[in-house]
Amino acid sequence: MSEKLLKALNDQYNFEMLSGYYYLAMASYCESENMKGMAHFLVEQAKEEYEHAMKFYDFINDMDGRVKMQAIPEPKNDYSSFLEVFETALEHEKKVTGRIYDLLKLAEEEKSYPTVQFLQWFVSEQLEEENSMKDIIFKLEGVQKHFHGLMMVDRELGSR
Ligand code: FEO
Repeated sequence: MSEKLLKALNDQYNFEMLSGYYYLAMASYCESENMKGMAHFLVEQAKEEYEHAMKFYDFINDMDGRVKMQAIPEPKNDYSSFLEVFETALEHEKKVTGRIYDLLKLAEEEKSYPTVQFLQWFVSEQLEEENSMKDIIFKLEGVQKHFHGLMMVDRELGSR
């Protein structure tokens, strides 16, 4: 595996860690607004991001690479609505999907077939994550700022 591909995998390890941190910031906002179910959903999402990061961590080590930690930038901490939280989440997931596709392209160019195979899981996962955020956005657009509707969505997300 080339240094270029190893670096790209290491960058993605760090981006997954950053994703977890972003979701914790969103969870903390929802918590402060007493939307416990949404906060729970987002904390679970953060945990998933750390699991994604560890998949990259293990794979890089399996390929005799060295994982290096990078600085994590400050995430967006303040939101004007719950809808904005999940719209931001969807935009973030689209960015992740683009990065996974770029990695896959690079791995294919280098004929690094273990990496191509490793990334397949993320292709499916990204489709699922984008769809999950789209579904929540659809529901939040439907209820707007109506309290009862918001509470219903909150209860649903709390059961994740
Ligand atoms: Fe690890 Fe939500 O992408």
